[in-house]
This record gives sequence, structure tokens and C-alpha cells, in this order.
Amino acid sequence: MKSNGYQSGFGNSLATEAVAGTLPVGRNSPQRVAHGLYAEQLSGTAFTAPRSENRRSWLYRIRPAAMHGTFAPFASSGDFHSDFGDGPVTPDQLRWNPLPMPESPADFIDGLLTMAGNGSPAAQSGVGIHVYAANRDMQGRFFYDADGELLIVPQQGRLHIETELGVLDIEPQEIAVIPRGVRFRVALPEGSARGYVCENFGALLRLPDLGPIGSNGLANPRDFLSPNAAFEDSEGDFELIAKFQGHLWRAHIGHSPLDVVAWHGNYAPYKYDLRRFNTIGSISFDHPDPSIFLVLTSPTDTVGVGNMDFAIFPPRWLVAQDTFRPPWFHRNVASEFMGLIHGVYDAKAEGFAPGGASLHNCMTGHGPDAATFEKASNADLSRPDVIADTMAFMFETRGVIRPTRQALDATHRQRDYQACWTGLQKHFRAP
Ligand SMILES: [Fe+2]
Repeated sequence: MKSNGYQSGFGNSLATEAVAGTLPVGRNSPQRVAHGLYAEQLSGTAFTAPRSENRRSWLYRIRPAAMHGTFAPFASSGDFHSDFGDGPVTPDQLRWNPLPMPESPADFIDGLLTMAGNGSPAAQSGVGIHVYAANRDMQGRFFYDADGELLIVPQQGRLHIETELGVLDIEPQEIAVIPRGVRFRVALPEGSARGYVCENFGALLRLPDLGPIGSNGLANPRDFLSPNAAFEDSEGDFELIAKFQGHLWRAHIGHSPLDVVAWHGNYAPYKYDLRRFNTIGSISFDHPDPSIFLVLTSPTDTVGVGNMDFAIFPPRWLVAQDTFRPPWFHRNVASEFMGLIHGVYDAKAEGFAPGGASLHNCMTGHGPDAATFEKASNADLSRPDVIADTMAFMFETRGVIRPTRQALDATHRQRDYQACWTGLQKHFRAP
């Protein structure tokens, strides 16, 4: 399937048809849909959710989603799950090198490795945090995630994501969000790809309120793009993989489920280019909290407390006077999983490579390493600094992020990460 272009806006009610005259006028489910299609509603929120939060779309498709074989446990991939353990969890600072590329053929689903998470799909709260490394297209295979929406953050290699509602093409420094339940297939135009995925079990991601910032800034709604309808009409011996309540399931399907000829509504995949983020910071002294870098948030029932906040650390100018310009030492009630998409991160001199990851949990102290501290403490502040070549991100959560056994045991974990702070000198001199 080729991209059929995009429609702009976040959470807007959109309408698109790949064949003219498909969308019914004035109703959602006419007695007969044009061109012999089936009408099907896809709901992403409770039917009675307030209008401002209600998300659903109507799909007009060749065959309804109900048509597939019986699901059976899908055994061949054990690395992608929602088992975050229930025993003790280490408060250590943790860091990983980039996930190595697979040595045998692995598509986007095969290549997913669950790193950490909290909450559960059953509780509709928390997140699963995964990394992927893949070296082939999904072939004869389609996937959907009933447990949560997928925030995909590529770090290396473009992704061609064919969904029921159309095609998203993304590259590193762009993101894609695939809503819960939407079926899709991923191809790798460059032959291989690596990145991060946040599986959001909680409330749907949305743009944050801007408060005193005003009506513009941070991520602007018009830069979010949803695909125009695109479909394929093909039959064959395919498989449908589902993630349901933490486990993968497989069913036979005799046709491509990417057969939606037209759709309308506000529950749809979207993409966003992180380079369009309007970055805001201090022009006097000190740092705003990192919430100033918030792109999308999954709210909870407690106002201002996110199930998951997606923040980025994009290129920016640093001009604050009498200020330690890199991120300072800190401890938070929130827990932070970070990744680096591109370039260098300004709080670490080395060890945090593009494709790598770090985890700093609730009240675990962290901050700049010794080399960064010494350099920034003695920097000339009469001139601005520009961090031109960077794009880091953070999945920040209300709940403690529990690393999985496979992440703790991984050979690419940096077992000496804490040593980056051992060189910090005692500067105190009693007067
Ligand atoms: Fe932090």
C-alpha cells in the first residue's frame, strides 16, 4: 500500500475515502453502504465519555473485522509481553547500550523486547516500555494491540506503517501513534530499523493544556497528521497476531484486514515530526521543570498527574545567567525512562548512545556525570550555548517503572553505570 497523503489536526473529526462516493452522507450505517462495503464502528473511548474526550471512527470496509480463524497462543515471540514482575524492584540507576541488531530474520513484532513497565492492561493503567530491532518486513502478518495504544519512536531506519485507516511513513525524529485495536503491518524501507515503543494502557494520549504559555507553543495541533484512507483487496494465507491481556495470540486470516476503503471520525493513527516542537525555556535564570518539554500526555483521574508523559529534549539555545545550564541533579516522585534518538544528550559526557536507554525510578538520585558537572560549572555564561545536534526523549510515569528480567539480564546493560558519578569531587570547604 502506498501513502495516500495526510490530514492535519489533533483529535479532529476527519473524513477520507480512497474511492469517491464511498462515505455515506447524513448517517453512519445506511442500509446498504456504497460499493458493497460493510460499515463498522471502532470505539477508542467509553460510549458515554464526554464529547471533548470521546473518540470513535466509522470504517467502511470490504470485510468486517470479525472474520478470522480461532486465536491460539503465539509461542514464537516471548520477549514482548506485559510481565513486569511482582517481586522486589531495584532502586538502582540503570542504563543500556543500544539493542543489537538481530542475527536472524526478525520483523517489527519479532524484534520487540519488553524493557520495563508498570500497571497492567487489565487495570487499563500504566505502560509497557519496549525497544525493537528488526531486519525484515512483516510478511503475510498483521498485528493489533488490544492492551494499549502504541507510541512508536524510531531511532534508526524509516518505518512504512500500513494501517487499516491508511499509511504512515516515519523516520527517526518523527513519531507515530497507533490506536488500541487498529490492525497494521510494518515494512522497513532501509532494510533494518531500531527504536522504542511506549504501550499506553491508560487514557489516550492528548496534547497538554498550555496554561500561561497561551494558545501557541510546544507541539502545535496542526502538525499532527493522520493518514488518508488507503486499502488493499487481497486474499491469501495470512496470520493475525493480537496482543491481548499481556500475551500474544495468533489466528489465521484469509484476507488482508487493511481493507478499509473510507473512514470518518476522530479515532485514527497519527504521526508528528519532533523537529516541529516549539521549544520554550528560561531567558533569565534557572530551568523550568522538564514538563516544559511535554509533547503528549496520558492523564489520570488526578488532575496534573500523568499515567505517562512523553517529553523530548530537542535542539535549543541556553542563555540563562548565573545558572548551571545542563539538567541539574534531581530526584522525583515520578519515574523516568529515557532514550536518545539522535546526537548527544547534554547531561552526559559519554555512555548514553543513540539507541541506548536509561531508567531512573521514583526518588532515585541522578543528574549530570562528573565530567559534565566540572565543565558546566566553569563555563563562560556571557555567551549562549546552542545544543544543535540532539533529540532525546523521556517516558515519565506516575508509577514506578519495573525493569523486566530480560532487561536486567541483557548483555547490553551497562553494569558500571553508577560509576559515572563516582568522579564527583568534594568541593566543600568549611569557612
Ligand atoms: Fe531525570
